[in-house]
Amino acid sequence: MDISVIGSGYVGLVTGVCFAELGNKVICVDSNKEKIAKLKRMVMPIFEPGLEELIRINVKAKRLFFGTEIKQAVRNSGVIFIAVGTPSKDNGEADLTYVEDVAKEIAKYIDCYKLIVEKSTVPVETGKWIEYTVKANLPFGRGVKKNFVKFDVASNPEFLREGQAIEDFMHPDRIVIGVESKKAQEILTFLYKPLKAPIVVTDIKSAELIKHASNSFLATKISFINAISQICCRVGADISKVADGMGLDKRIGRSFLDAGIGYGGSCFPKDVDAFIRLSEKAGYNFSLLKEVKNINEEQKNSFVSLIEHHLWILKDKTIGILGLAFKSGTDDMRNAPSIDIIKKLQLEGAKIKVFDPRANLKAKEFLKDVEFCKDPYEVAKDSDCLAIITEWNEFKELDFIRIKKLMKQPLVFDGRNIYNPDKMRKMGFKYFCVCRIPKND
Ligand code: UDX
Ligand code: UDX
Repeated sequence: MDISVIGSGYVGLVTGVCFAELGNKVICVDSNKEKIAKLKRMVMPIFEPGLEELIRINVKAKRLFFGTEIKQAVRNSGVIFIAVGTPSKDNGEADLTYVEDVAKEIAKYIDCYKLIVEKSTVPVETGKWIEYTVKANLPFGRGVKKNFVKFDVASNPEFLREGQAIEDFMHPDRIVIGVESKKAQEILTFLYKPLKAPIVVTDIKSAELIKHASNSFLATKISFINAISQICCRVGADISKVADGMGLDKRIGRSFLDAGIGYGGSCFPKDVDAFIRLSEKAGYNFSLLKEVKNINEEQKNSFVSLIEHHLWILKDKTIGILGLAFKSGTDDMRNAPSIDIIKKLQLEGAKIKVFDPRANLKAKEFLKDVEFCKDPYEVAKDSDCLAIITEWNEFKELDFIRIKKLMKQPLVFDGRNIYNPDKMRKMGFKYFCVCRIPKND
């Protein structure tokens, strides 16, 4: 099929490339001319494992193209995915300005049947607004009669985890398509057939809600285990053992039960806020989700308090931060817990040294007055403590004998529970993590 993807960010680019890999002809469009220029020069605007190779293969096979013109994309494709950003407004609502702008643009160039698909995470009823906007901007006159419906709208939410997005696209647990016509259903069913995954066919509103409800449930699961970790700390239980014991119950499942410094990223914080607001507008007070958000904020604060408790005065102390991205496997700094944690430490007068294997460059847009280091050992040099913020595998293989010699004192705060408490203590570190008990305590 001929497909266009409008908005070539983390979601749009992966979606476009994977559809090309499945044999479709795809044009990825973006209003950011620099981003498109980079992609045409094979310079990746984002880090996502496996993405660069897939882009090279599909550009070479003439299945994948990049552009900035929506007109060209609409005219040359039968299926148009909207994957532009849906950032949060100050009041937490999803800002759908870009979605509306793109819907208007698409409408202007519709010259035959098109299927317009919401890929971006949008509040329920956005599909209805897209349909209204496109209808209101159809190019009547040039052979397009008022009553001739030349398009359908569908919802096809993504469930891509950054750092595993290609794997998640190619091997999804399920595909959700929200459609209002048989034709739209046939097109999307055909498009996703090669993935041989369960396809959930619903109306558009239900598909939009599945996305918000899924992300909010995952965020709820994380805040739940983080709340349990707070209880473990107070009663002397081991959160990793509790999570293991809970997770073996098939009804609960072990994934998303890793206690840490809280969730971040471009989705959970934004989608939880949007769902709370959307619920309020529908007349329901989603108090559970509000508490999920509160617990998430509290988890970052309690990590800062742990550091303060053991460093006593933070002023003029040097704190080494390992990891900045909101999770390992990505360079994405959007709503990364590191940003709030570093700001809180700086407010107390601490000096901050940082290193992230992938996000150092992007982090410069989010952090001020920090010393960016080239590796974990430079961070450790003359630091009063080390704080693990992102669970990069390379931090699991550090030479701790060398680290210990470089630091002012052997003090480690592990916000992601990536180290073995016994081993760290045997190497002579004062080691604190998210509520786990060393065996020989
Ligand atoms: C974002 C949201 O984070 C996600 O929840 C939603 O499902 C899809 O949009 P992401 O790909 O991470 O996903 O956003 P981002 O990386 O910001 O990419 C959005 C792209 O859209 C940007 O490259 C931006 O330049 C582009 N864009 C935005 C357009 O092409 N046209 C516009 O009018 C606005
Ligand atoms: C999420 C959803 O998983 C994905 O389906 C949706 O399409 C987009 O949002 P993503 O935000 O890329 O994906 O990352 P994810 O792996 O879900 O982690 C989200 C946050 O939760 C990260 O900050 C991560 O560190 C945190 N997390 C995750 C935990 O704190 N504990 C866990 O057990 C799992």
